[in-house]
Amino acid sequence: MYNSKIAGLGYYVPEKVVTNDDLSKLMDTTDEWIQERTGIQERRHVEKKGGDTTTSMGVKAAKIAIDRAGIDKNEIDFIVFATLSPDYYFPGPGVLVQRDLGIKTVGALDVRNQCSGFVYAISVADQYIKSGMYNNVLVIGSEVHSKGLDMTTRGRNVSVIFGDGAGAAVLSREIDTSKGILSTHLHSEGQHAEELALLAPGMGGRWVNDIVSENDPEDTSYFPIMNGQFVFKNAVVRFSEVIMEGLGTNNLQPTDIDLLVPHQANLRISQFIQKKFGLGDDKVFNNIMKYGNTTAASIPIALTEAWEGGKVKEGDVVVLAAFGSGFTWGSVIIRW
Ligand code: UT7
Repeated sequence: MYNSKIAGLGYYVPEKVVTNDDLSKLMDTTDEWIQERTGIQERRHVEKKGGDTTTSMGVKAAKIAIDRAGIDKNEIDFIVFATLSPDYYFPGPGVLVQRDLGIKTVGALDVRNQCSGFVYAISVADQYIKSGMYNNVLVIGSEVHSKGLDMTTRGRNVSVIFGDGAGAAVLSREIDTSKGILSTHLHSEGQHAEELALLAPGMGGRWVNDIVSENDPEDTSYFPIMNGQFVFKNAVVRFSEVIMEGLGTNNLQPTDIDLLVPHQANLRISQFIQKKFGLGDDKVFNNIMKYGNTTAASIPIALTEAWEGGKVKEGDVVVLAAFGSGFTWGSVIIRW
């Protein structure tokens, strides 16, 4: 048996900064409301035409991660790509990364677990390395939200939150099983699937043909919907549970946490968790202020920034935790 370790990290965000004041020109919202409820000050959006895509941002982040891992791109054995905003309905972006990186015909898997996507993807990669099947797995989380949001007052409870960006990690074999990824825990509760969802187009409901033929200007089924307060209440409970589950499995206590990198859903959620576990400001990393909620990209962007800022040191207990649409949630406990 082996462990896997995070050998390299990278992130990429598009250049275009969209402030809360910019959004208030499109919809009835204010900088004050957004900052007070979410902590977000600005986010990045791709250019509407000819700009970055989910895949192109993922590839840019991946190149940095591969370089920092100190391996050749052809030493990548497998690709796992987490996103809710793929370039194409099918095929998923994993194969586009294989093409655009110009690497061997390795397997490419697409993960569809929204805000928990990166945690799910890490867990998948970890199992392949633990079993001895692969040495190096490229894990990417990338999202283009800006092209799919309702940028009017009707959609303001969702559209002010989400931003675009990508993060990537190379997971590599670790022979010392007291180090690296110690455990991953994953959960789902599909009962609440429609509380945070994008319902169309879907084969079980309304497909593109239906939307086009009905030509209903009031149709909003192709915009994401969220029951914000319900999601918030579930998030704080599930975040806490799954962090405790991960710590318990490794005989660790909240006081053992050196750095918690939570999914950047809402600064208020992170602060709730921080208070609940009695963690100091230096032990919880947040960057939602700059990027908003980038779903599957949020943890790898935050983890990369934390690492670049010297906040992750060898031997540290690093905890990743996420909750989101599905509902899905999960945690990763790492001994760095
Ligand atoms: O990443 C996946 C997981 N996602 C989450 O964890 C998100 C969890 N939920 C949240 O973060 C919060 O629920 C939101 C930030 C989305 C919303 O905050 P809230 O405090 O729950 O607000 P609310 O939805 O209860 O709305 C309160 C009021 C409403 O007006 P009335 O009915 O009281 O007159 C909304 O219409 O705020 C209004 N509102 C806004 N006002 C200005 C909703 N969005 C906006 C807005 N600007 N952008």
